Amino acid sequence: MCGIIGVTGEQDACALLLAGLELLEYRGYDSAGISATDPARDAETTTLWRVRAAEHAGSIERLRALVADAPQPVGSAIAHTRWATHGPPTVANAHPHLDCTRRLAVVHNGIIENHRELAAGLDERGHERTSATDTEVLVHLVEEQVATGAGLADAVARCLPALRGDFAVALIYAGEPDVIVVARRTSPLIVGVTDTAGIVCSDVSAALATTRNLFALDDDQVAEIRPGTVVVRDLAGRRVEPAPMTVSWSVQRALKGGYADFMSKEMHEQPRAVGDTLLGRVHADGSTEIEELVIGDDDLRKVRRVLFAACGTSYHASLVGRQAVERWARVVADAEVASEMRYREPVFDEETLVVAVSQSGETVDSLHAMREARRRGARVVALTNVVDSVMAREADGVLYTRAGPEIGVASTKSHLAQLAMVEAFALHLGRLGARVAGDELARAAQSLLSLPAAVERALARFDQYEAVGHRFADREDFYFLGRRAGLPVALEGALKLKELAYVRAEAYPAGEMKHGPISLIEPGAVVVVVATRSPMWEKVIANVEEMRARGAVLVAVADEGDEETARMVDAVLEVPHVTEICSPVVNVVPLQCLAYTIARARGNDVDRPRNLAKVVTVE
Ligand code: M6R
Repeated sequence: MCGIIGVTGEQDACALLLAGLELLEYRGYDSAGISATDPARDAETTTLWRVRAAEHAGSIERLRALVADAPQPVGSAIAHTRWATHGPPTVANAHPHLDCTRRLAVVHNGIIENHRELAAGLDERGHERTSATDTEVLVHLVEEQVATGAGLADAVARCLPALRGDFAVALIYAGEPDVIVVARRTSPLIVGVTDTAGIVCSDVSAALATTRNLFALDDDQVAEIRPGTVVVRDLAGRRVEPAPMTVSWSVQRALKGGYADFMSKEMHEQPRAVGDTLLGRVHADGSTEIEELVIGDDDLRKVRRVLFAACGTSYHASLVGRQAVERWARVVADAEVASEMRYREPVFDEETLVVAVSQSGETVDSLHAMREARRRGARVVALTNVVDSVMAREADGVLYTRAGPEIGVASTKSHLAQLAMVEAFALHLGRLGARVAGDELARAAQSLLSLPAAVERALARFDQYEAVGHRFADREDFYFLGRRAGLPVALEGALKLKELAYVRAEAYPAGEMKHGPISLIEPGAVVVVVATRSPMWEKVIANVEEMRARGAVLVAVADEGDEETARMVDAVLEVPHVTEICSPVVNVVPLQCLAYTIARARGNDVDRPRNLAKVVTVE
C-alpha cells in the first residue's frame, strides 16, 4: 500500500510527480502530498516546501490545484499517495512528514512496528510530533543524526537498525538540495537515473516516463540519488552494485485506452492475457516449456508435494492450481491463505515445492510465507505478473504471467492469466512425472489452448451479463455456490461483488449449505450458482433445488444453449463450454461483469473501491 515517487534534477519536478502519483494511485488513495527543496535559497537556513491534500480519490487533483497556486521549487522532491494504516486519512497524517526544523521530509510505505516505543523516546527528548502516523518517528530520528553533523545518507543508515517492520522510505533535506536518500526492507522500491536526473519510486509504471535505466534495491540498502548518479551502500557503509531491472511494460499499456475505467479495459484484455501467458509454453501435443522456472526437470520430478500460498483472488487461482496438479500430475497438492500459512509452523522438506501466487509480487503476507517456506526447507517458486518484483527476485524459480500492468484494484486479467499459468504449470509437472497418459495430457493442452477464444466469446455476451446485473442491482444478500472446479469461481464471484459493489456476498461449496448456511436463505435472497456441465452437474442441480424450495432467486452460470439448466433458474449467465479443469478461466468472466455492473449501478468507483488498495504491503 502507498505509492512513493521522488525526482531530482528535473526542471518540471511537480508535473512529473503529479503524473507519477496518478499512476501510483492504485496503491492507495486516501490522501497525497509533495515536498521539495529549493536550491535557490540558502541551504544552511531554508526550510522545505510542502503541499498535502486528503480528499479520498480527489487528493491528487487538489494537489494539482495547490501546486498551480504556488511557486514551485526545482531541487529534489518526493511525493506520496497514502493508504492509511496508522491515523485516519487527514491532511495532518498525509505524507510527506517533516521534522521539527522543517528541513527534513520523509515519505514511507509499510509499517514501522515499534513506532510507539520510538515515539516515546522522541517525546522525552522534546520533539514535537504533528501526526498520528508511525512514519513520522523516522524523520525525527534522522533529525537527531543530522544535528550531529551526519549527511543525509549516513543519518538514514544510522537510524535503520532501530526500526522494526517492513518499509520503503525516501527522504530529502534542505541542507543537501539535490539529493534524495532511500532505503527499504521488504517493501518495494526502485531507483533510476538519466544523464541529468534521478528518480525513485514504488514501481516501474511511474518511472517509465523518465527512464528505463532502473535498479532494484535489496533489503537494508541505502541509496543516495543525485542528478545522473546513484550510489548504493549496505548498512556497514560498503558500496554495492544495485541489480538492474528488466522492464517489459510500456507507458501506453498502463493507460485507459478509450474505456470508461481500467476495470472494463482490463476485462476486455483477458483473452490476450490468457493467450500471452500460454504462448510458447503449452503445445497442442501436450509438451510444455517454461524457461524462467529455473528449477530443472530432474528436480521437478522429485517433487512429492505442491503447496500454493496466496491471498485474495490469487488464493482462488491457487485452489484451481491444486485441482490441476492433482488431476494432471497426480502429485499431492494443497492451497493455503498465505497469511495463515506463515504462522502455522508448517512442515516442509526438500520434496515440497511452494508456489507463492501474487499478481504484484509484493504482497507482504505472500512474501513472508515464501520466505518462511524456504527457511523450513522447501523450494519456492513465485508465480507473478511483475517481472523482477520482490518475490520474483527472492524465489528459487519464477512463473511469469503475461497480463501486462493491471491498474484496477479488482484483479481481473491478472486472475485469468494466473489461472492459465497454474494450469500450464500443472501440465508441465504432469508431463515430467508421466503418471497420467500422454493422450490425456494432450487433450488438456488443447483445452488450455482453446481458452483465449472461449474468453473472447464469453466477453461478447457482456450485454447479457449486464442485463442480469441491472436486474439484481438493488439486492443486498447474495450467495455464490459451486462444487469442485466451480468452487473457486464462486469464491471469486463473491469477492468481486463485495469489494466493488459493497454488498454482502457469501460463497460456499454447494454441498455445504445444508450443514448450516441454508438457514440464512429467505425468499428473495439471490443465489448465484456455477452450473456448467461437468460430472458434478447433477449434484449442483440438486443443491439448486434445495435453494429454490426455500424461496431463493437463482442465477446460474451455465453452458450456452443448456435449456435444461436455464429452465430451473430465474436468470442465466451463458458461457461457452470448456473442460471442467479449464472452466474457471471462462466461468469467472460473467461474475466479474456482474460485480462490475452492480457496482456501477450503485454509483461506485470500480477502479478505486473504498478501503482498498491494489497492493497490500502491510500485514
Ligand atoms: O498482488 P497479489 O495477487 O498478491 O494480491 C493479493 C490480493 O490482495 C488480491 O488478489 C486482491 O484480493 C484482489 N485485488 C481482489 O480483486
